[in-house]
Amino acid sequence: MPDTAELIDAATKVRMNAHAPYSRFKVGAALRTPSGNVHIGCNVENVASPEGTCAEAGAIAAMVAAGETELVEIAVIADSPVPVTPCGGCRQKLLEFATQDATITMATTGGDKTVMNVADLLPGPFVRSQMVNV
Ligand code: THU
Repeated sequence: MPDTAELIDAATKVRMNAHAPYSRFKVGAALRTPSGNVHIGCNVENVASPEGTCAEAGAIAAMVAAGETELVEIAVIADSPVPVTPCGGCRQKLLEFATQDATITMATTGGDKTVMNVADLLPGPFVRSQMVNV
């Protein structure tokens, strides 16, 4: 899957820029939109810990800032013993923009990978149709 390899490569590179002085756990993410564009993000921690942001959130912000609102694939990578999985908040964030069949590749720097559908990460999500007047 050459597209996935490209995303893992981009996530691996941006991971090096992560600002993670508190956890020392650097994470990189790269996503691809239907147009083929790739947007990247890394975790950015803060001394006031709740103010930190995840790599996935950074990649989503970069995508939206570039004028795109759909992702078909995302790769996330960290130096972890097992493939890193998105936190609960990021699962909801990803679902907001993921196409129906969007996939996520969760990877370790050691080369292990797990691939899932983004939708399967969050059963019973809060979705737009639950709100009236929207
Ligand atoms: N983190 C991410 O950026 N993405 C994930 O999928 C898991 C966790 C970050 C948040 C925090 O900066 C650090 O990893 C430790 O939790």
